Amino acid sequence: MKFGHFDDANREYVITNPRTPWPWINYLGCEEFFSLVSNTAGGYSFYKDAKFRRISRYRYNGVPMDAGGMYFYIKDGATIWNPGWKPCKTELDFYECRHGMGYTRITGAKDGVSASLLMFVPLRTNAQILKLTLRNDSKRAKRLKLFSFVEWCLWNASTDMENFQRNFSTGEVEIDGSTIYHKTEYKERRNHYAFYGVNAKIDGFDTDRETFLGLYNGFDDPDAVRAGKCANSVAHGWSPIAAHQLDVALRPGESKELVFTLGYVELPEAEKWQRKGVVNKKPAKAILKRFDTSAKVDRAFAQLKSYWDDLLSRYSVKSGNERLDRMVNVWNQYQCMVTFNMSRSASFFESGIGRGMGFRDSNQDLVGFVHQIPDRARERILDIAATQFPDGGCYHQYQPLTKRGNNDIGGGFNDDPMWLIFGTVAYLKETGDFSILEEKVPFDNKKGSEVTLFEHLKVSFDHVLNNLGPHKLPLIGRADWNDCLNLNCFSHDPNESFQTTENKTKGSKAESLMIAGLFCVCGKDYAELCAHLGRKAESTRAAKAVAAMEKAVERHGWDGEWYLRAYDFFGRKVGSKENDEGKIFIESQGWCAMAGIGKAKGMPEKALDATKKHLECAHGIVLNQPAFTKYVVEYGEISTYPAGYKENAGIFCHNNPWIIIAEAIAGRGEDAFAHWAKIAPSYTEDRSELHKVEPNVYCQMVAGRDAAKPGEGKNSWLTGTAAWNWYAVSEYILGIKPDYDALVVDPCLPKSLGRYTVTRRFRGATYEITVVNKSGRGKLAKPVRLPLINGTRKFVVEI
Ligand code: GLC
Ligand code: GLC
Repeated sequence: MKFGHFDDANREYVITNPRTPWPWINYLGCEEFFSLVSNTAGGYSFYKDAKFRRISRYRYNGVPMDAGGMYFYIKDGATIWNPGWKPCKTELDFYECRHGMGYTRITGAKDGVSASLLMFVPLRTNAQILKLTLRNDSKRAKRLKLFSFVEWCLWNASTDMENFQRNFSTGEVEIDGSTIYHKTEYKERRNHYAFYGVNAKIDGFDTDRETFLGLYNGFDDPDAVRAGKCANSVAHGWSPIAAHQLDVALRPGESKELVFTLGYVELPEAEKWQRKGVVNKKPAKAILKRFDTSAKVDRAFAQLKSYWDDLLSRYSVKSGNERLDRMVNVWNQYQCMVTFNMSRSASFFESGIGRGMGFRDSNQDLVGFVHQIPDRARERILDIAATQFPDGGCYHQYQPLTKRGNNDIGGGFNDDPMWLIFGTVAYLKETGDFSILEEKVPFDNKKGSEVTLFEHLKVSFDHVLNNLGPHKLPLIGRADWNDCLNLNCFSHDPNESFQTTENKTKGSKAESLMIAGLFCVCGKDYAELCAHLGRKAESTRAAKAVAAMEKAVERHGWDGEWYLRAYDFFGRKVGSKENDEGKIFIESQGWCAMAGIGKAKGMPEKALDATKKHLECAHGIVLNQPAFTKYVVEYGEISTYPAGYKENAGIFCHNNPWIIIAEAIAGRGEDAFAHWAKIAPSYTEDRSELHKVEPNVYCQMVAGRDAAKPGEGKNSWLTGTAAWNWYAVSEYILGIKPDYDALVVDPCLPKSLGRYTVTRRFRGATYEITVVNKSGRGKLAKPVRLPLINGTRKFVVEI
C-alpha cells in the first residue's frame, strides 16, 4: 500500500494520506539554519547545532507520536482545523504534502477554504519562511480566525527537557508589533535570540503556553483557538511560545497570502541592546524586511530551486528505468547532502542531543557529496584529520561546534584510520586538488603538532600494521565498523556502555577480517596514490604490506566457503561453520571480496555465493546468520538485540552496497542490480505500509527474516547507507568513476539495462556518456578511460 507518489518532474514526494505509518519528514536548510518538518507540520528548528542552539521545542518518543511543530489553526465558525491535519486531526476535504528539495508544501482544505503552507529556508538566511496562502473556494464570504503556533526551546535542548527547577523561571520574551522575540538568558551569557513575525497586522498574540493551550489540554485543543481569541499573554518563566492571531475575511474566490518568518540572530556584546532591557531588533527587522512580500519570498524560493538544479546537474542519468533514474537523479543525492549537513545528529530517530560527528561516518559520507560540494568536503577532511592521534588512532567522534574530539568515547576503534584514506582518495580523484595533501594538520587539535595531511594518511596506514594480532591480521580494538561486535568488552553490568567499556584488552587476540579487507582496499589506494606522487619507496612498502595481508587472510581468514568474520579474545573463530550462531557475517564477505582476496582460488565469488545463499532474504541482505538468540558475553552488544534487528541479523542497509560493489567487481551484473533494487526506496515504495519509514530515502535498518515483521524499516535519513548506495550505483553499476587524471567508464549491468546516458560534470567540464549494452554481457573487457576535457563532449561506449 502507498500513501503518495513520486513527482519526478518537480523532484517531490507527494503524500496524499496524512496517516502515514510513521511521520515522513523533510529537511529545510542547507547552511546554518535548519528545520525538520514532518508531513503533518511537526518538527523543530535549530541553528548549526541541534543540541546547543535549539530554537523550537520538540518532544521525542512521546504519545501521541510527533507532537509539537509549526502549527496553524484555522477557526471557521465552530470548526477548527489545521492545513496539515495534525494536531486537531479534523477530517479534511483535501490533504497533500509535497516534500521537495529543501522545502515542504502542505495543503489542506475544509468547507470551501484551502490553506497552502510553503516552508523553506532561503539561501544565506538564518530564518525559515512559512508562506501561508488562504483561499475561499466557497460561494459564501468567510470570516476566519487564524492562529500560528511554535513553542520556544530554552536553547540547550537537553537541559530544556530536564532542569525544571530552573527552567520554569527563566523564560523571557518581547512583543513588538507583529513579531514575538524569544530572549531567554539573553541578558547573561547568550548573544542570540529568536523571533517569529508575520508581514501583517495581528489581532492578538500569546507567548505563555499555559494561557494559549490551557494546562490540561493538548496541542489539539488550545483554549485560545476554541475561544477564537488570544489573551495577549506575556511569558515570564514557565514555557514561552509564540502564537499570532489574525482575523481573515475572504470573499468568495478571494485569496490572501501571509508570510511568517521564524528567525535567529547573533550579536556582538556591544550591540546586544537597543536600550536597557530591550533587545537590538535591527538584524531581525532586516530579515523580516527581506521577506515582507510574497514577491520577495517567491524570488528567494526560485533561488533555492536553482541552487538544487545546479547541485543535481553534476551527475544525472537517463535510463528509461524511472525507479533507477529517480534514485540517482534526485533522492539518493539529496539524502547524501542531508547526511553531510546533519551527520548523525537530528532525525526522527536521532534526538539531536546525542553523539557528535563520527570519524568513520563522516569519511564515508564524503563519497556521497564530494562531487556536489568539493570545497566543503575539503574542509571536512581537514577537520576530521585534526582529531587523529599521533599514532594514527582517532577519536571516534567529534563535536561539530568545537571540532574537538569527544573524550567520553575516546578512540580505539581500529577501522577508523582507514576511513581517512578512503575519504581523502575520493576527494583527490574528484577534484585533482593535491594541494590538500600539503595542508598542515595538527593531531588532537594540539598547536605545534602539525604535520601534512599526507603524513596523517601515512600514520593511518601504519596504525593497522602496528596493531597486528597472532595471525598477522588487524587487531580489532573496541570494535571495527560493526560497533556492536565488542570482542574485548565482557560486560555483565547493565549500566556500562558497550561502546566505551573495555574490561579486557591486555593479551587480547581479537582480530578483524573486516579491517583486513578494508586495509587491502584502502592500502592499494594508498600505494597507488604514493606512486602517483612519485613516492616510489613508500608505494612499494605499502604494496608489500597489502600483499602480506592478503596472504594472511587466505591462510587464516578463509572458512572453506566464505571469509571468517574475526578471531575473538581467546583466538577462537567468529563467523565460521564451526560456530552455532553467527556462522557467517556480511562485512568480511563485502570487504575481502571487494579487495579481491584469494581471487586465484575463486574466494570472492564463493563468498558472494555464500552471502546469497545464507544471508539474502526478501528485503535485502541480513548482517549475519544464524541470528544470536542468547547473550554472548565475549561478543558484546551484537547479541543483545532480538534476532533480526540492527547488528543482530537485521538488514543493515549500509553494508548491502559492499556486496553490490563486490558483485560488480566480479562482473555479476544481475546480482549487483538485484541487490541494489531490493533496498532502493523507489522499489520498496509499493510496500510502504510494511516498510513504515519514508519511501523516498534509505533507512539504516530493515528488520531481517528472523524478526517479527521482516521488511519493517527504522532509522531513516541519517545513515551511511546513502553515501554507499550512491557510490555503488553511480560508480559501480552505472560505472562512471573519477580517477586522478581521467574519468573512467566501467559499468556492470543487468540485461534489463540496455542503454543509458549519464551526464557528469568533472573538473569543470561536462561529459555526456552513452553506454550501450549491445552484447548483453554488461561488463567491458577493459575499462574505458576518458581524458580530461574542456567544455561539453559526447562519448559512446559500447559493451
Ligand atoms: C551506526 C554507526 C556506524 C556503525 C554502524 C554499525 O550506523 O553510525 O558508525 O558503523 O552503526 O554498527
Ligand atoms: C548502537 C547501535 C549502532 C551504533 C552505535 C553507536 O550500538 O546499534 O548501530 O553505531 O550504537 O551509536
